[in-house]
Amino acid sequence: MSNRSVDEDGRPMRTGTWVTASAHIITAVIGSGVLSLAGAIAQLGWVAGPAVLVIFSLIILFTSTLLADAYRHPDPVTGQRNYTYMDAVRAHLGGLRVRLCGVAQYTNLVGVTVGYTITASISMATVRKWSCFHEEDECHVSTTPYMIIFGGIQLILCQVPNFHKLSWLSILAAVMSFAYSFIGLGLSIAKLVTGVEAKTTTSATVSEVQRFWRICQAIGDIAFAYAYSTVLIEIQVFAQPIFSLVESSCRQRWPEVKFVTTDHQITIPFLGGTSFQVNWFRVVWRSAFVAVTTVLATVLPFFNVLLALIGAASFWPLTVYFPIEMYIARAKVSKFSFSRMCLQALSLICLLVSLVAAAGSVAGLIQSLKTYRPFKNEV
Ligand SMILES: *[C@@H]1O[C@H](CO)[C@@H](O)[C@H](O)[C@H]1NC(C)=O
Repeated sequence: MSNRSVDEDGRPMRTGTWVTASAHIITAVIGSGVLSLAGAIAQLGWVAGPAVLVIFSLIILFTSTLLADAYRHPDPVTGQRNYTYMDAVRAHLGGLRVRLCGVAQYTNLVGVTVGYTITASISMATVRKWSCFHEEDECHVSTTPYMIIFGGIQLILCQVPNFHKLSWLSILAAVMSFAYSFIGLGLSIAKLVTGVEAKTTTSATVSEVQRFWRICQAIGDIAFAYAYSTVLIEIQVFAQPIFSLVESSCRQRWPEVKFVTTDHQITIPFLGGTSFQVNWFRVVWRSAFVAVTTVLATVLPFFNVLLALIGAASFWPLTVYFPIEMYIARAKVSKFSFSRMCLQALSLICLLVSLVAAAGSVAGLIQSLKTYRPFKNEV
């Protein structure tokens, strides 16, 4: 109580509230998953769809609570804080599982970064396409230039050292997410009222086998839509945990290399002498990262299907397995007890869902490879 500017761990006083935390989560969740829910519900129908939705929301609410309790170790209230998911796994479980956690987490994050480039470019190209509807019936807009524009914007934004201070950005993004959900809802209602039947891929004729795989993918989409486990411990909007991991480990590895460790003070004369810190290593490596993800996005347009596969592979370890295992270790749940069996049964069921959804994505991947032509990205 004596010094209100620092927290009990000596770091700057945390100012987050449940509002800013919710904004971060809504941004993370809606950005990556919620948009696929409409399609998933359409696949499953009005009974199974909402049922799966409710079941997974409860499961993930439960495992997220366990994960949040793993933030401090050994006690969820009085223990010491861990700042990354990997550190929490190290404190609770240790060993090989720390590495597995890292692989799952960072593969997922790199994948999501590429995925966003693709989604953003498709969205921009679609907006461009609206303007040519009246001119010709067949109008194809390439998404590649938009990917390059998006990469350019990222190139600048990625230099922001970290996003802790930008919670207004998350709130803005959350507001926008709600806005476009309501726009979608409005458009759908308008469609219903006018009575014009909407054509979706669901109503098209597909074989029984294809339909089965699509149902698998739909269940996966719903399960992964809630998976915000990657932001629960490390709230930072998505590429930032990768940046901080690489930058801090390089600093540790080459402490004597000035290029890596030195921050230069740069003053901008026009902006009233505003100055900021520049680290050339940070500039070079973050730019390279953005360049690589942008190139991946242009070469692999079917990456979104691949991303579903990565999502399926990381969902189970990050959202279900580690939270449950960390709880078992912390609460010392005894080996053959009823609660331990329940927890592990839950974990097993989620593993099966992941595997089935992964199989569905592989089927989808094979489907898109049939029509694949590099750089031919059009909407
Ligand atoms: C994580 O928590 C453990 C247990 O309290 C602690 O020993 C460790 O230093 C923490 N790790 C970090 C990186 O803070």
